[in-house]
Amino acid sequence: MEVLLSLTLIFGVCIVFKNWIAAFIIRWKYSKYSNVYMSPSFSPIQGERAVIKAQGKQKYRFWHLMEVAMKKPDCDIRIVFSGTKPLFLIYSAQACKEFFKLVPTRIDRHSNHLKHFGRMNKGAIDQIKSSPMWKSRRDKIMKVIGINFSTKFIPLILDSFHEISATWRENQWFNITNQMKKVMFSVTTKILFGKDIPVENAYTYITSCGDTIHITLEEYFSKLIEDLEKSSALIKNRLCPYLSKAGLTTSNKACEQNIENLWEILLKICQSSEDQDSVFKHRTNVCYDKKIVLMDIITVYIAGYDPTSHALASILFNIKANERVFTKVMKEVKSNYDRNEKSIDAKRKMLDSCEYLDMTIKESLRHSNPAFFSLGYKSLDEISICGVTIPKGATIFQCLHALHYNSNEWINPMEFIPERFDPDSHYFTTPSSNGTKQRSRYSYNPFSTNLRRCPGKNLAMLELKLIVAEFLSKFNYTISPEQISNKYLRFSLRSQFSCIISITGTI
Ligand code: HEM
Repeated sequence: MEVLLSLTLIFGVCIVFKNWIAAFIIRWKYSKYSNVYMSPSFSPIQGERAVIKAQGKQKYRFWHLMEVAMKKPDCDIRIVFSGTKPLFLIYSAQACKEFFKLVPTRIDRHSNHLKHFGRMNKGAIDQIKSSPMWKSRRDKIMKVIGINFSTKFIPLILDSFHEISATWRENQWFNITNQMKKVMFSVTTKILFGKDIPVENAYTYITSCGDTIHITLEEYFSKLIEDLEKSSALIKNRLCPYLSKAGLTTSNKACEQNIENLWEILLKICQSSEDQDSVFKHRTNVCYDKKIVLMDIITVYIAGYDPTSHALASILFNIKANERVFTKVMKEVKSNYDRNEKSIDAKRKMLDSCEYLDMTIKESLRHSNPAFFSLGYKSLDEISICGVTIPKGATIFQCLHALHYNSNEWINPMEFIPERFDPDSHYFTTPSSNGTKQRSRYSYNPFSTNLRRCPGKNLAMLELKLIVAEFLSKFNYTISPEQISNKYLRFSLRSQFSCIISITGTI
């Protein structure tokens, strides 16, 4: 009887702690690979959050991703734990090359319905597997946006920038990340939902305490994304993934309600617009299900405004924090970019001629890429990358920070050096090659490069270049000395820092 009881107890403990045991087995199994890195300490409750906490608040929370790439450049795969769940990170250029060859036949998009956007927008183009239906949906929406003819959006982008920047007061410190969010939100709303949409209207939002507040649509999105992240990080959801999967520990019922309300709000907004050029009108005039159209538009909405505004804040910070770069960029902008030019084509040509600005933006996307990871992927069967076996069903991400800080590929990866993108500069080559060997093309990947790469790259690059040129030709500014002196600062998505600047005068 006693034996039976003991066996039942052991069996029960194994069931309850199944995920913990599996995590320890994975750590043991992968410790034999010399090109796999795992944090030396492991907390099965917090996973890699324990590493983030241990490095302190003054370091950008994803600092550890860059640090390992600089100190252990031969690491091809890193395994991090989200609670007890292992995530396989593609860490080196060679691993990235092998990874791309396997997409989409043996690795494909993995949506996570329990987390962040996955919870908000199940079944959208960024969530579903690669298929002819996915491709047709993605191509159609991007064609309507005119993603390859983004020059036509120049007046709209400038109008939104001027509208928001008119509210800035001189000699006052303010959060430029938030201001750029407002600009990009306004641009994206007008392109997708209609130019006549009033972006300042207030909508009802339920807080996690159950209170009702009234906020603008932009605040609604930011708050919902923040609340979804908080809810998925809760210890009880990490401890009991089964209960959480069944929806029983979902602390934040308000999130579900807010998601439902958001759909209704957006549908009403879209239908109220008279703008026949909006992406919503174009798609619903010829297309199937309004819900599918809206779902894909929400994806483009979030993917479109959030990373671009973080990138803008980083670019302005990096330019000002590096005096040599600032002097060169200003000289080029002053001689090549005329703010008062009205012709769209002439404006585009002026931007194209700002080559050093182009390199500076590329370097900022390396140094502080808004996306620290790609979106999620899943192995469809057992695969091997750089000799490392990855099981079927594993969750995989490209770690963009790691690729951009690998010290085998980049000379002094911590330094901000736009010349890395000048083919005539020795910074264009690898550190050990004495100026003879170019970096791997997989070492730089801000928008990803495979079938699932970012379709908004051209529009994003235009937005970044245009707004930075316009800003620099109009404003003198300064950045917080405290922020300049912190070398562990980055302004990517989900960073704990926001960029603080002050306008010191107009030009
Ligand atoms: C600086 C700005 C931006 C950066 C750094 C960026 C970066 C990325 C990255 C890294 C991915 C994940 C690719 C992968 O999982 O392999 C992605 C996906 C995506 N991006 Fe962007 N993006 C930016 C701006 C935009 C803009 C302006 C739009 C739309 C107008 C956009 C639309 C999308 C969409 C729809 C996806 C999902 C693609 C799919 O799964 O098929 N992005 N982006």
